[in-house]
Parts: sequence; C-alpha cells; structure tokens
Amino acid sequence: MQATTAQLLSQPGLLQLECQRLLKRFSQTLKPLAKQQWPALQSRLNAQLPVLLRLYLQLYAERYDCYFHLEQLLKSLAKSSASRPDYLCQLDEQPQDWHQHSDQLGAACYVDLFAGDFEGLKQRIPYLKQTGINYLHLMPLFKAPEPNSDGGYAVSDYRTTMPALGSMQQLAELMAELHREGIRPVLDFVFNHTSDEHSWALKAKKGDPEYRDFYFFLTEAERDRYAPHLREIFPEIRRGCFTQDPASALWVWTTFNSFQWDLNYANPAVFNAMAAEMLFLANQGAAVLRLDALAFVWKEAGTNCENLPKAHLLIQAFNAVARIAAPALQFKSEAIVHPDEVVKYIAPTECQLSYNPLLMALLWNSLATRKTRLLTESLKRRFAIDPHCSWVNYIRCHDDIGWTFDDNVAWQLGIHPDHHRHFLNQFYTGQFAGSFATGVPFQQNPVTGDCRVAGMLASLAGVEQAQLQHNTQHLAHALARIYLLNSVILSIGGLPLLYMGDELGLLNDYSFVNDPAKKDDSRWVNRVKVTAAQLAKAKDPASLSGQIYQQLQQLLVARRRLAVLGQGSTRILDCGNPHLFCYQRELAGDRLLALVNFSEQPQQLTLPATGAFTDELSGQHYPAGTARLQPYQVLWLTPVTPE
Ligand code: GLC
Ligand code: GLC
Repeated sequence: MQATTAQLLSQPGLLQLECQRLLKRFSQTLKPLAKQQWPALQSRLNAQLPVLLRLYLQLYAERYDCYFHLEQLLKSLAKSSASRPDYLCQLDEQPQDWHQHSDQLGAACYVDLFAGDFEGLKQRIPYLKQTGINYLHLMPLFKAPEPNSDGGYAVSDYRTTMPALGSMQQLAELMAELHREGIRPVLDFVFNHTSDEHSWALKAKKGDPEYRDFYFFLTEAERDRYAPHLREIFPEIRRGCFTQDPASALWVWTTFNSFQWDLNYANPAVFNAMAAEMLFLANQGAAVLRLDALAFVWKEAGTNCENLPKAHLLIQAFNAVARIAAPALQFKSEAIVHPDEVVKYIAPTECQLSYNPLLMALLWNSLATRKTRLLTESLKRRFAIDPHCSWVNYIRCHDDIGWTFDDNVAWQLGIHPDHHRHFLNQFYTGQFAGSFATGVPFQQNPVTGDCRVAGMLASLAGVEQAQLQHNTQHLAHALARIYLLNSVILSIGGLPLLYMGDELGLLNDYSFVNDPAKKDDSRWVNRVKVTAAQLAKAKDPASLSGQIYQQLQQLLVARRRLAVLGQGSTRILDCGNPHLFCYQRELAGDRLLALVNFSEQPQQLTLPATGAFTDELSGQHYPAGTARLQPYQVLWLTPVTPE
C-alpha cells in the first residue's frame, strides 16, 4: 500500500523507501538523459532526493499531478547534468568554503557601465586582479525590454543576453576566463518575476490558461483579499501591488514595476521552469547566484506576502536542485527586510551567503549620529549566523539604502524608530543642517512620508560637498569616513563587497534626469560609468581617487595577512564609549580587537589589562592601559606575544 504524504513527511524511513522506489522507477529514463554524468548524478540523487522530495511534497502534495511534475523536474536535472562543462564538474567535487578566507574580496558592477561589454570586461581583468577582487557580481545582462527593464531586473529571456553586451556564448567564455584567473563570477537569479514581455507572459496575455497559471491573474475581489496587507515597494511608480491587464481586465501581481510580473510558485510548473533556467545559468559558469527579491516569492491571502514559511521551503528546494545538478553553485540572499527575517534565509541548505543590510544601514546611521549604540546593540543580536555561511558586507550597491533596523532595539535605546528614519533621510539627502552628505531621495511614499536614499559612497560620505565648498578639512574627514567604512566591511567577518566605482571615490551622476527612461528612478544617481581614465587614477597618489584607492589597498594588504579576519569568530563588544564601535575576532587562540571611532573628536577607552597591543594598520605599539583614538581613527589591535 502506498504511504500517504503525512506518513512520508513524518517518517524518514518511509521517505527514504519512497525515494528508492522512485529512483528505481525513473532510472531507465534518467540514465540516457544524464549521459556520462549518470554515475555522479545517481550518487547525488541517492543522497539528496529525500531532501528534495520532502520539500516538493510540502509545497505541492495537494496538487493531483505532483508526481508528474517531480518526474519532469528530475528529467530536467539529468539533462542539465549532461551539459555541465568539465571545469565546473571538477569544481563540484571541491569544498565550497572559499568565502570564509581573508584573501577574498567581492565586487559588483554593471557590465556596460564598468566595461562597455563582455569583451571590454575581459580587458578589465588585470584591474580587477590588481585591486584584489576574486568574486565579481555582473549585474543583469539578460534580455530585458528597453525602456521597461528596471536596470535589467525585468528579464524577458534568461538564456539570451542584451545584444549590446555580446552573446551568451561570449558570456560563458568570459565566465570561464574569470574562473581561470581566480575570480568567481556571480549572476543574478531574478526569479520572483519576469518581464511582461517574457514569452510566458506574452502567452498569458493572449489568454493561454497554462501560462496564465504562471502568474497571478486576479479578479478585483481576489485582488482585494490580498491588497490591504501588502507593503508598497515602488509607491512613486504606481500605488498598490497590482496592474490591470487591458485585454482581460484582470489584475496581475506586480510587486515592483508594473512591467515586472510576479511568478506564481504555487504552480509546480513554475518551479520546474525556473529550476531549469537556474541550472542553465549555473552551467554557463556562475559560481554564485544572487537570489533577487527572494522575500516576495510566496503569496498567501491574509498575510503581507513577505518572508512566508513557504518562501523558505521554495528556496531550500532550489538549493536541493543545485546540490544534485550543480553542487559547486552557492546562493546569495538579497533580503532587504527586517533583521529577524534576513537571518532566516541563511543556512547551508538555503542561502550560504547573504547581503548584510543591517550592518550597511547602521554604519551609515553611526556616521550621521556619531554614536554606535544602535549599531552595537543590533549587531550583538543579529550578527551570529551558521559557521559554514558568510555575510556579504557592503557599504553601497546599485540600489537605495533602506533603514531596516529593528524598531524594538531602537525603542529600548530611547530612539523613536520612525522619527529617526525621517532624520536619516533628511541627513543623507543633505537637508539636515550640518549634514555632510549629498544623497537623493528614492521612492517617497505620499501617505507614510517614508523614503529611502540613493547615492554613491563618496557623495554620501561627504566628498562631493567638501569639494564644492573647497574645504580641505571636510575633505579629510570624508576620506576618513570612507576608510572607516571600508575597514569595517573588511574586518568584521564575512565577504566584503565593493561597488565598482566606490573604490575610486566616484561621485553621484545626476545626468539620469535627462533620460526619460531613468528620470523617475533616482537609483541611477549611483549607477555611474567607470572610464579607463578613472581607472588609471588608481595608481596616481596625487589624485583623490588614487588616495581613496591606496587607502583601501592598505587595508586589504593587512586583511590578507590576518587569517583571523577570515574564518575567525566575531564578538561585538560594549566598550563603554558611545562613539566607539568595537568587536573582537578570534581564531584558534589568535585574537584581533577592532576599534572604530565614529566621531570627528578624539576618543579614548581602556584596553583590556592583558598586555600590550600592536596596531596592524599602523604598526604602532599600544601599551596596556588607555588608548586614544584620533577623529575617525580605526585600530586593528593584536596582542603582543610575550618574549
Ligand atoms: C532587487 C534589485 C533591484 C530591483 C528589484 C526588483 O532588489 O536589486 O534593483 O529593482 O530587485 O527586481
Ligand atoms: C529590494 C528590497 C527593497 C529595495 C528594492 C529596490 O528587493 O526589498 O527594499 O528598495 O528591492 O531597490
């Protein structure tokens, strides 16, 4: 007698038996599809099918055709295994703990803005290596209809690249070359939505019921069951999260822009189709996929449709697919949500890497307030993650800054969270008296007044204003802030991620307002072109770019030398001085104490009485007792071992 779903889910022995039965039944079909990869695939299926089946049942058991879809999925895994290039199969055999080492440095760029096209990017490999970059996120490069492309995040075909960048073949060659040069390529997996010009969407528009079921086509009454609970992500673009399809008059779910149609993952055909796209990208050479907007992928009436338990099951199912058919592939979570929710995506079985939006937002917060309490208290609670996973620590990216700290922590410190967010928006858009920043507001919500901030690192840190004012002291402070921010992402634990252009201190580019396709999306202010002339300045110490770049290099040299900054554990410390941020790294008895002064006043603190220290950044000696930090100074202290 066949076991029921409930029995399979509650009795691991039964689930195991069921997997053996399925493998026996399907092996004759799968073997010829997997070709020479069958032995490897078979052994991975033996290990991982129970994981995948459990998840698939949890997601889709209620569908009468659940097993049919599972069989389709397995066939597509077998086909994809057969076409995985040899060099990636070799990587599949290796441990994937590279992100935990102190020689790792990430960067993100738009191919067109940084290098023109794929060929141009190849020419920039020497610059990447000179900078120390060995992880490179190439931002969306798939076919996306202009002007409705959302900077490439509205994909109309995951297997075709934007013609101006080059062909998919050229991209695959570029990624193979990056691997050869020791740089891991990272691509986006834009899986929450497709462009409304994707072939699935076009068929759905024509009324094809199979493809209508790939998206959400809702009547007004159905829409209204969901609508009241949803957050508006792009309120300036359109109120609410739905867009009316003119042909059917039905409402399509569009969390982001109206031309970005959310996929309906309650339909297993959608999961299977996107799993195939995912494996295609993995086989082109992606070492990591950045799971774009993953918080939104599962919807249920009566909830806010963010971070739902089934979103996690779904990502775990994608992860199980990767373990079976592309084991070297790692996932990076892009969850820019409440800190309690961010950490839930991080696990070896879900996303091995995750953006650290809390650190990012609170570093900026501490620079504005010159105080570190919110940073210290928040990270004490929310920095620890699974030891096999890594934070991706960043200061800026191609998007806006949202102030996603935990309101409860703020309240406990006597900070009114919403008033404080208002202050931060005012501060970073330069409207607060005395602010050093020249950021731009993004997506002001007309009802709540809420907004986010866009801008390049150097502009937000004060370089732009200091230059306008010809104020050398302000400029020195701005450079010190950039150095300080870089020092934290390089030392706090995790993979540091630069946003290309920031390493040279490039400023905001306001010309987007002249482009009708961009003028309503202020994030373009921080999507700047990087020219060869600018790159050349990296080596010119007389230029501002050269200074910023060289200071970063000094930090990187020290980071690479200190293994503790890679795999070491992190402890966030209370040091008693409200302007200092302190944390300790520890690895097999080696310790490093990082002290960061967030104010432009000198600060002091009492060092642990255990003995003297050396500052790994300056080589200076610090005897036990009191240490004095200069404005914005950073110390990386290691204990002097007694003779
Ligand atoms: C992610 C991207 C952002 C895009 C959004 C919708 O947050 O980083 O640029 O607008 O997803 O795809
Ligand atoms: C992301 C984030 C949101 C961000 C947006 C676009 O998915 O969740 O906070 O502002 O997309 O930049």
